[in-house]
Amino acid sequence: MLDPERILRLEDDRVVFLDQRRLPGEEVELECRSADEVAEAIRTLAVRGAPSIGIAAAYGYALAVRVGEDPERAARVLAGSRPTAVNLTWALGEVRGASDPAARARALHREEVERCRRMSDHAVPLFAHGTRALTHCNAGGLATAGHGSAVGALRAAWAAGLLERVLVDETRPLLQGSRLTAWELEQAGIPHAVIADSAAAHMMSRGEVDCVVTGADRIARNGDTANKIGTYSLAVLASHHELPLYVVAPTSTLDPSLESGAEIPIEERDGAEITGRFPALNPAFDVTPGGLISAIVTEEGVHRPPYVDSLPLPGGRGAA
Ligand code: MRU
Repeated sequence: MLDPERILRLEDDRVVFLDQRRLPGEEVELECRSADEVAEAIRTLAVRGAPSIGIAAAYGYALAVRVGEDPERAARVLAGSRPTAVNLTWALGEVRGASDPAARARALHREEVERCRRMSDHAVPLFAHGTRALTHCNAGGLATAGHGSAVGALRAAWAAGLLERVLVDETRPLLQGSRLTAWELEQAGIPHAVIADSAAAHMMSRGEVDCVVTGADRIARNGDTANKIGTYSLAVLASHHELPLYVVAPTSTLDPSLESGAEIPIEERDGAEITGRFPALNPAFDVTPGGLISAIVTEEGVHRPPYVDSLPLPGGRGAA
């Protein structure tokens, strides 16, 4: 696995990230010395992926307290950096209430690494011998500061001798799949091939895909799941081809305050990420209805529909 400390860490007077914008070409560190700089790193995707931005925000807050910034302002700036992943506000809530924010942030980091390990193990029985999986975006070590969620499940299936290969959606427009997931799979020695997002239906129709495995940015009580734009399209395609779609995400991605995905805020990014010349609309996430998700895997286990009963939410029947 990628060293979690290499992906992001808190030092005395700075938060240091492996700059994901420069991968896979260059492995360069980015140093942030204020909450504003950490928020900018999150906004511009130097650090990205739901659990990683939660840890980044927690470290940003701890740094702000340490260097004497106004903590309320720092929390506001960090919380406003990206809207969709609930991990960000969740992690900020955890450190804001802590007597030692740096210690709590470091503990959160270790806990996310452990959550990844547990959910990867839980996911293994979902794979049959010779599985050919398709994944979207990057839900690996870069995105989770650990083993990975969706990629963690793929790593565990590979280690168990069950995985044949992975198709990696390139993930328009910022190529988290072809730049980051392919880089991680290459390092793990897992056979893979990048495909254009628009090739997924064709590959499914030719019998080249056995299951779809993705991460998540926010999961509502009913299992509706926000993830990288294009995940919903894959879910519809998987349903049409009678293939299972599995979401692998830690409980820090569950949002017990939301009844359904209709309430999930969807980030609209600059159209310049798509085209420099014409008007563009650039929603960064979409919501896959829980009804199209065969199982949601958290560190607590494998949860099946109806999710309102099975997810480990406070007060739910699936609660740990
Ligand atoms: O815009 P990004 O790259 O932060 O989007 C990330 C995703 O959509 C991931 O699939 C999600 O955060 C899960 S990461 C374990």
